[in-house]
Amino acid sequence: MTEKSWADNVGAVSPRAREEDVELETSPLRPTRLCDYVGQLNTVETLTIAIEAALARDEPLDHLLLHGPPGLGKTTLAHIVARELSAGITITSGPALEKGGDLLGILTHLEDRDVLFVDEIHRLSRSVEEFLYPAMEDFAVDFVFDKGVHARSHRFQLKRFVLVGATTRAGLLSAPLRDRFGIFRSLDFYTEEELVTIARRSAFILDIPMDEAGAAELARRARGTPRIVNRLLKRVRDFAQVRGTGRITRDTVEKALALEGVDEQGLTPLDRRYLNTIIQYYSGGPVGIEAMAATLQEETDTLVDVVEPFLLKIGFLQRTSQGRRVSRAAYQHLKVPVQGEPGL
Ligand SMILES: Nc1ncnc2c1ncn2[C@@H]1O[C@H](COP(=O)(O)OP(=O)(O)OP(=O)(O)O)[C@@H](O)[C@H]1O
Ligand SMILES: [Mg+2]
Repeated sequence: MTEKSWADNVGAVSPRAREEDVELETSPLRPTRLCDYVGQLNTVETLTIAIEAALARDEPLDHLLLHGPPGLGKTTLAHIVARELSAGITITSGPALEKGGDLLGILTHLEDRDVLFVDEIHRLSRSVEEFLYPAMEDFAVDFVFDKGVHARSHRFQLKRFVLVGATTRAGLLSAPLRDRFGIFRSLDFYTEEELVTIARRSAFILDIPMDEAGAAELARRARGTPRIVNRLLKRVRDFAQVRGTGRITRDTVEKALALEGVDEQGLTPLDRRYLNTIIQYYSGGPVGIEAMAATLQEETDTLVDVVEPFLLKIGFLQRTSQGRRVSRAAYQHLKVPVQGEPGL
């Protein structure tokens, strides 16, 4: 099918789906049902129960807030929730909504049980956030017409929709907004076994031959993240096809990922640059994040959202009240002699 006809088709199946969905719906690797979603067992169980109960009572599902580093499956889960509720989904994001009015148009078009997915919800402006409170609580919005002495407020009643918010930084959400979500789940990095399952599922869907050792090696180098395991799988597939027999083995994974600069722990060049900078310029830390961003010439958000969570998870980095410190394990991994007093 051509891209055009894919887009048309998606539009027909789900009239409320917006253009960004097209790539998503066409990605065959994205699980579409809860039973296909690998890992995050507690979250899946919570949602299974909540969805079944809501459907049985014919009530809307409680609003759901999903938190976690990029690529762990927040957007995927939002789509699955809509599908399990047999409802539509409308997708937007915090930065895309500038005024309360932007949201009004979206909210008034939602049907009963529909999912409104707001990505990067921690970046909503204050005024849009306040507009959202009555929508979440009472399924109503208050809209003010005219200004000054002529100002009149009108209350629109909305359908009983479900707000699904995703954020990489739950800490930046205001308390009143956070409190209005009935279900709040943090997604954690995936285990190696779970990533093996995802790698094998993706290889099966894409019809890529891969042996057990190849799958295990990919999983080990995927930074605990499904999106990365899928991305690496595609890079290694190319390598195996052009430089190997077409089959993914441990050997092809090692060679292909050496070219990508991904090491045995899954660290990327940016991860290593980050750790080496703390070691070389700041004697292992502690160092503040702003100083790190300036030295590396990277956005603070990239470091906090993308680089640090995994380094913290594997114990290469510690966050203290004085700043970031690298651990002894990080020195060993980078094969740098330990100087000073490293973190544990
Ligand atoms: N539990 C899972 N099982 C199988 N595949 C998954 C799972 N979670 C995510 N994936 C795969 O990883 C990809 C990335 O997931 P997704 O886009 O949902 O991440 P995200 O948390 O929304 O990331 P971001 O914060 O960058 O928006 C998906 O396209 C899907 O193929
Ligand atoms: Mg997403």
